[in-house]
Amino acid sequence: MSSPFESYITSVIRPIHQTTREERLKIIQEARYNLFKIPSKYVMIDLLTDSGTGGISNQQLAELILGDESYAGSASFEKMKEAVYEVTGFDYLIPTHQGRGAENVLCSTLVKEGDIVPGNSHFDTTKGHIEFRKATAVDCTIDAAREPTTQHPFKGNLDLEKLEEVLRSTPREGIPFVLITVTCNSGGGQPVSLENIRGVAELCKRYGVRLFFDMARFAENAYFIKSREPAFKDWSILKICREMFSQADGATMSAKKDAISAMGGFLALRDEELYQKCSVYSILFEGYLTYGGMTGGTMGVVAQGLREVTDEEYLRTRIMQVAQFGEGLQRREIPIIEPVGGHAIYIDAKRFLPPIPQSEYPAQALAVAAYIEGGIRGVEVGTVLADRDPRTGENRYPALEMVRLAIPRRTFSDNHLRYVAEVFEQLLRNRDQIRGLKITWEAPVLRHFTCQFELI
Ligand code: F0G
Repeated sequence: MSSPFESYITSVIRPIHQTTREERLKIIQEARYNLFKIPSKYVMIDLLTDSGTGGISNQQLAELILGDESYAGSASFEKMKEAVYEVTGFDYLIPTHQGRGAENVLCSTLVKEGDIVPGNSHFDTTKGHIEFRKATAVDCTIDAAREPTTQHPFKGNLDLEKLEEVLRSTPREGIPFVLITVTCNSGGGQPVSLENIRGVAELCKRYGVRLFFDMARFAENAYFIKSREPAFKDWSILKICREMFSQADGATMSAKKDAISAMGGFLALRDEELYQKCSVYSILFEGYLTYGGMTGGTMGVVAQGLREVTDEEYLRTRIMQVAQFGEGLQRREIPIIEPVGGHAIYIDAKRFLPPIPQSEYPAQALAVAAYIEGGIRGVEVGTVLADRDPRTGENRYPALEMVRLAIPRRTFSDNHLRYVAEVFEQLLRNRDQIRGLKITWEAPVLRHFTCQFELI
């Protein structure tokens, strides 16, 4: 029988600095209502991201010290390469400073003006890399993903008909690759089924198009496959991972998520010729081929992290914590995206704040209110993030306005998360006091991180 508690104990801690509501009101004004600009010491429960914020293990800490910092041919690189091979079966590895570094190397090699890259709600940096090259990211996610309460075990799935339509109507040389993001972050941390992955791979093969994964949260996706897809319930997590990756030509990885490292990433490839082409950009942008912007120690941390993250007991407690947090919010009648995904809870801001129109950024308004009320930092996943249409300059209004509360791995206790649920309960009771926002300044691309607001 599996135990109802975490598969590890906490042995290194960091204190939380307490703030008052009055202090937070002042801090958020100074930050122009952008939560990215708040110094972390003024955040009590930081759920901004699960990226680079996980608790590292004693064995990972040991790897930091054991790191081989040689410029070329580092032993730590060999360690990482071996671990990546174990999980993915890909022979060629290009380390990068983080996930977007890998996206940059891959897109520099394969994406050109006018191209189309179909996928399931590409993450914003990925979309940024595609659009920066005047290509288009086409979202082929199933329609159920846009319905916040529709129950579907794999809301990250691609709609095979939509995908085939894109593949049929575009010349082959206009599609550098299809990208499957597991789990699908922009769609609510929703998983993709193995059956769907196989279906996508089959289409890609038929149309002669490459298939890549954005594997940032691959282990969490594998756990969902094991627990929700009956055909694979007796498979080990590692076997499921290997089967997923066997369908693809390569993957980009942000090691800050499912490798539980503070930094790092990589591009893993099956084909030597493509590896040679990518190597040029890797050396140009990231660093020499055996470190690519990572220290030797960090490569060791990633290697060890990849092994720990595929441990089923770890994954069970991880997915269970996020699910229980979701249940706690639902008991308090807080509208969330259902079913709960792997790394985060997404609060449905349209249902939470029906009077605030999308043009007044309801999800940003709710995220700001949660900071003021409880010192909690979440992140807007709505109109601010969706940014403007590069052609028309108009706001793009996404189907969902969400506040993401990402849960760092092996970091917060259930008590911390219960406090967060209580704060949102309080906000719901007083929701008529929450005001919309107006943008007073924004950057030309990726405005999310730096734009400034004022209260309406
Ligand atoms: N792909 C996915 C699915 C991601 O979630 C992220 C980052 C990246 C790529 C880029 O990786 O940050 O290492 O360069 N997501 C973080 C988040 C920032 O908070 O969800 P990176």
